[in-house]
Amino acid sequence: MKIAAEIEAMKPRLVEWRHDLHAHPETAFEEHRTAAFLARELRAAGLEVHEGIGRTGVVAVLRNGDGPSVGLRADIDALDITEATGLPYASGTTGKMHACGHDGHTTMLLGAALHMAANPPRGTVVFIFQPAEENEGGARVMIEDGLFERFPVDTVFGMHNWPGVPVGEFAIHSGPMMAAFDTFELKITGKGAHAAMPHQGVDPILVAGQIQTAWQAIVSRTVNPNDAAVISITQIKAGDTWNIIPDTVLIRGTARSLTPEVRDLLEREMIHRAGLVAETFGARAELDYQRRYPATINTSPETDIARVAAETIAGENTVRQDMTASMGAEDFAFMLEKRPGAYIWIGNGSVEGGRNLHSPNYDFNDDALTLGVQYWVEVANRALSRNSSAEPLS
Ligand code: NI
Repeated sequence: MKIAAEIEAMKPRLVEWRHDLHAHPETAFEEHRTAAFLARELRAAGLEVHEGIGRTGVVAVLRNGDGPSVGLRADIDALDITEATGLPYASGTTGKMHACGHDGHTTMLLGAALHMAANPPRGTVVFIFQPAEENEGGARVMIEDGLFERFPVDTVFGMHNWPGVPVGEFAIHSGPMMAAFDTFELKITGKGAHAAMPHQGVDPILVAGQIQTAWQAIVSRTVNPNDAAVISITQIKAGDTWNIIPDTVLIRGTARSLTPEVRDLLEREMIHRAGLVAETFGARAELDYQRRYPATINTSPETDIARVAAETIAGENTVRQDMTASMGAEDFAFMLEKRPGAYIWIGNGSVEGGRNLHSPNYDFNDDALTLGVQYWVEVANRALSRNSSAEPLS
């Protein structure tokens, strides 16, 4: 592994930051302590710092003459999960936890910012510390707050730890890395009746069953088998007792897809079929389909930059390109809708003992910290000196 001596020397400081962030988790748009800490450290390193971008986001800018510009993004928020690790630096806030490793992501990008402030590449680097990745779309909020107008970048890069990939390795491929994430709520209105006299009503529970079948047939019969799609119903609520057919049924769930075309198809077909099926039975269906996060889609040239950066520092055969996309979602997708770029997974090691994302037993792996810092430095240098075969500056 090729990690600069100065970055290796940062490790105790990186670990200290990471543990402190871990002990003080903050969730969507409440990352005030985290943001203040970042702003303080970034300013102390001489960077131009902007706070309150997308509410609790922090942006730091490093300018060094003319040249291209690159955005590097880390997410900074925690989750509403009660930590069960028993670690000495476990969450001190009941019900909140850094269970997705954003404490590690924050630390790695901060380390890279400080290193690059002392070793500035030619061009402009924009360090994007993004709030509210989990469920609330903080990336979208930063973009709506003028992120890319105020801090124009040619390309943008993201990174997430990935349990199950060994520490010291990465995974990336061009095209979709993570799925689009949508939610839906369907209200079926029939007509309540005594259970012994169903002919006097319109049974919405029967309709719900038929709609579920019609929807799953979209995935199995209408989507091209070579494309990925998921429709998962996770809640069905109806009725209060044994012998009364209720008036209504409420169905909720999530839909996932990897391309805009499949996403459009799912939404269109779910609305169409729910309406037709309900009508067939004399009921009414109202579907509220909410588009939450788009698919996270890497562009090809930037994927190459990221892959070569990772291989350069981690070594040959350390960058997996054969992993399938995750049907989980990631709001860095909003940034990739606006700029070419690439999102990479950095190995977090074994999942043993429940060290999986969003598990109460999860912990970011400190052994990945310096590699992550070096990756950021390398990818920024390569993005800024693209088309040049010169040795990167790191
Ligand atoms: Ni995450």
